[in-house]
Amino acid sequence: MPTNRKIIIDTDPGQDDAIAILLALASPELEVVGITAVAGNVPLRLTEKNARKICELAGRPDVRVFAGAERPLLRRSVTAEHVHGKTGLDGPVLPEPTMPLQEQHAVDFIIETLMKEESGTITLCPLGPLTNIALALIREPRIAPRIKEIVLMGGGFFEGGNMTPAAEFNIYVDPHAADVVFRSGAPIVVMPLDVTHKALTTAARIEAIRSLGTRVGDAAAALLEFFERFDEEKYGTDGGPLHDPCVIAYLLRPELFTGRHCNVEVEISSELTMGMTVVDWWGVTDRPKNAMVMRDIDADGFFTLLTDRLARL
Ligand code: RIB
Ligand code: CA
Repeated sequence: MPTNRKIIIDTDPGQDDAIAILLALASPELEVVGITAVAGNVPLRLTEKNARKICELAGRPDVRVFAGAERPLLRRSVTAEHVHGKTGLDGPVLPEPTMPLQEQHAVDFIIETLMKEESGTITLCPLGPLTNIALALIREPRIAPRIKEIVLMGGGFFEGGNMTPAAEFNIYVDPHAADVVFRSGAPIVVMPLDVTHKALTTAARIEAIRSLGTRVGDAAAALLEFFERFDEEKYGTDGGPLHDPCVIAYLLRPELFTGRHCNVEVEISSELTMGMTVVDWWGVTDRPKNAMVMRDIDADGFFTLLTDRLARL
């Protein structure tokens, strides 16, 4: 059993973000010291509300939720209602949250936590555009060496992109923020489309979650059934890729994943390839190896872990 790990989840819920948050809150190995919302799948006013809805679904109104950046560093906002629905959490009907949104700005919370907690004890888990993380690094560069790990969902290497032929959504929305993060020097683990496209929400896997027969199981199944429809149509697969929970699963069972330590750089100049994560998988340059890039997953093991943990809520 991994030791207790303190994490900050930075997120743009989003059905897959919601499942990731549920997995984290169901896992005693993890202490969620805060959830910071960012604009992404839907605008910030919805992502922060959705984060609170999910905390309450998990029976955890004690978790502190903070609102962060409502737009990318430089580029215009891009959202994904076509995938996530107009609320960002279409699928189940979840009650309006009653737990409070914290007054403090998410970026200030991230900085304060990293400066206050013992160095090397806080893991950042970005599940959306990296705007909040980049703003924290720009505002207080001293946090970079204090971060234990940044384990993020983003990028697409051999799998290409899902927003353009070259770029994955989280990186595409704020490529400049991603560039700041990948150059920060903090230890980074990347869960790209190459991994998440192997974690498909097949009918059998959703049925296993629904058969839990719990409020959380029913809501999770409804979230996944709504979420997968767009990608099933696009890729012609049984189920859609379950992106963000791969980040949390890595913290719980890293052996489910395999990858390679590589250099990753982000395209911020060309409109054709804006937001592309360029990985030196074969080590053909002498650019610094700044990220552990995951490429494979034990998908059955991942869904068994997810289903077992959801059963606890
Ligand atoms: O490209 C997939 C990523 O974009 C996921 O994090 C999804 O929630 C969206 O944010
Ligand atoms: Ca997300």
